[in-house]
Amino acid sequence: MHPSATDSVDAMVLDADLRQALVAIRSLGRHGLRVAAFGQRRSAPALASRWCREGLVSPAPPTSRRSLEALELALRHIRPHVLIPSADGTVELLRRHRVLLGQKARIALAQDDALEIAIDKERSLSLAQELGIGVPRGVIVRAPDEVRAAIREVRLPAVVKPTQSWQEDEHGGARLDARLVIDEAEARCAVAELTRFGGRALFQEYLPGRREAVSLFCTDGVVRARFAQWAERTSPPIGGESVLRQSIAVPQDLGGSAERLVSEIGLDGYAEVEFRRDGDGAPRLMEINPRLSASVELAVRSGIDFPALLYRWAAGEPVAAVRGYKVGTWMRYLRGDLMSTVAALRQRGRPGVAPPCQALMGFAASFLRPMRYDYLDWRDPSPALRAAANFWQEMLHATTRARSRLAQRWSG
Ligand SMILES: Nc1ncnc2c1ncn2[C@@H]1O[C@H](COP(=O)(O)OP(=O)(O)O)[C@@H](O)[C@H]1O
Ligand SMILES: [Mg+2]
Repeated sequence: MHPSATDSVDAMVLDADLRQALVAIRSLGRHGLRVAAFGQRRSAPALASRWCREGLVSPAPPTSRRSLEALELALRHIRPHVLIPSADGTVELLRRHRVLLGQKARIALAQDDALEIAIDKERSLSLAQELGIGVPRGVIVRAPDEVRAAIREVRLPAVVKPTQSWQEDEHGGARLDARLVIDEAEARCAVAELTRFGGRALFQEYLPGRREAVSLFCTDGVVRARFAQWAERTSPPIGGESVLRQSIAVPQDLGGSAERLVSEIGLDGYAEVEFRRDGDGAPRLMEINPRLSASVELAVRSGIDFPALLYRWAAGEPVAAVRGYKVGTWMRYLRGDLMSTVAALRQRGRPGVAPPCQALMGFAASFLRPMRYDYLDWRDPSPALRAAANFWQEMLHATTRARSRLAQRWSG
């Protein structure tokens, strides 16, 4: 059933192309809420969910004027009570136009002053340092000619990443990822790319240890729910998306730090605080994600329904504390795991990349473990089917492109 233009829905989940959007739609739908979705592609798996009453699409880059206009139109048509974003670009759009959009719907995001610190790695790391929380050794670089001094200070291998994940560029903005660099040429190249539009980059020591993340839900500065997970494999191998992950008890040596940090910032709502351990096992802060993260499904499946908490908080309803969750649940994002394994074969020999044999065995052995899979939910099968169809279509396109490149090379 689809609502007519005059019906309203309880929530509109933005960034429907992302996995966490589907998690939010399912979670709110199961609570009997009426949910609509807004994304960039008609083929987004979330739009196929039985709980998605209406799906709207705008292919424009998230921070562009066209995207704002499309969102305003969607708000007029759907009239949602609450808006739930998950992508960094959309968070940026909502921050910029908060007053305008906030008149039409309640926005499930923390206050601006707290958000400003949380989305900025430079500011969150420096606050963490003031609080005595471990951070990676690192320096700020603004241009490639600062790379040599940074290498002297930090040494190689190193990780180069933007201070803010979302950067404006000539195409209306993009999310820029962390890069591992092993020599000066790679470092110069990464810094040139990340600082191209005037941005600053963090040049950090490379940490080889476990990746652990604490998800927190706070209202009025009080933690109402906490959850932790570690990622055994990520895509790309350096990190980014966690593709094989497990719920764990909140580690004592970083849970308190995460809570102190979030409370010092005054960050209400959902936040995922990411850490990676150094060679001696000490946790070092990576970043804070003040929006639903892709790995949130593991929390939901382990018993902490963060999207539902987020909805209640944004809607102005009371949020009761949630205690306890199932530890030891594994989840896998199969497409990401496949990509990560292919990347491991291509990047063999680089720091943190499993040798080819180990990567292939690890990929195969994960089928034998009791495991939940992203997208797969027997009560709502269509999104998984759509995700599979999208994957095969992309593979087909990639093969066709590779074939025509090969043919061109032969004929040239
Ligand atoms: N200094 C570092 N040493 C080792 N790995 C890192 C380092 N910085 C980032 N990474 C890896 O890259 C991933 C992405 O970095 P992060 O700081 O979370 O930025 P973003 O998620 O915004 O790209 C992390 O989860 C981690 O796995
Ligand atoms: Mg991250």
